[in-house]
Amino acid sequence: MAMNSDSHDGGKGSDPARRRFLTVLTTAVGAVGLGAASVPFIASMQPSARARAQGAPVTVDISRIEPGSQVTVEWRKRPVWVLRRTPDMLERLDDPALLARLRDPDSRVTSQQPEYARNRYRSLHPEHFVVIAICTHLGCVPTFRPDIGPEDLGRDWPGGYFCPCHGSRFDLAGRVYKGVPAPTNLVVPPYRYLSDTLVQIGVDPDTST
Ligand code: FES
Repeated sequence: MAMNSDSHDGGKGSDPARRRFLTVLTTAVGAVGLGAASVPFIASMQPSARARAQGAPVTVDISRIEPGSQVTVEWRKRPVWVLRRTPDMLERLDDPALLARLRDPDSRVTSQQPEYARNRYRSLHPEHFVVIAICTHLGCVPTFRPDIGPEDLGRDWPGGYFCPCHGSRFDLAGRVYKGVPAPTNLVVPPYRYLSDTLVQIGVDPDTST
C-alpha cells in the first residue's frame, strides 16, 4: 500500500512508533484477508500525499471489511482504524462487568469524540467503529486484540485494544480501563457516511459537499 513516508506529528512520531504503525497496518490489512490484488483498492481511495499532509479527508470502502475485522488507513499522518463490530462484540460492550472496569464508560471527556459519537458505542452507527489508533498515554499504536480471554490478557478480557508500551487497555469502543497509564478514551475523529458502503474520515456528518 502506498503510504506517506513522513513521521508522525505531535511529537509522538518517533521512528519506533512509526514502525509500530506500519507493522499494525500490515497486520490489519492481512487480518481482513486483503490479498495483494486488493491492496490498491484501499490505496486508490486515498488522496495524494500532499493532500493528506494538508488534512484532506480519506474515504474508506467499508463493504470490504469482514465482520470482526478492521482496516487501517492514514489520515493527517495518523493511523485510523475502521472496525466492523459483530453483534456479539456490541453485546459485550454493554456488559456491566466491563462497564465497571472502565474509567469513562459514558464518554464524559468531551474532547475525545465528536458529540455525535458520544454514545454507548462511540460511533455514528454501532456496527462501524472509527478511531485514531494512537494510545492516549504516550502515543504508541495499540494492538487489536479481539480474542476473548487470551492467556496473556486474562480470562476476563472481552476483546479490545492493548497498548504494548505500558500496558494500557481499551475496549472495542476505545474506552480506557481504570488503573492503566492512559488517561482517556481513544480519540474518535470526525467522520460521516457517504453511502451504505463508504465512510469519509475527516468530515462531520452535517458538512455539505
Ligand atoms: S503509550 Fe500506551 S500505555 Fe503508554
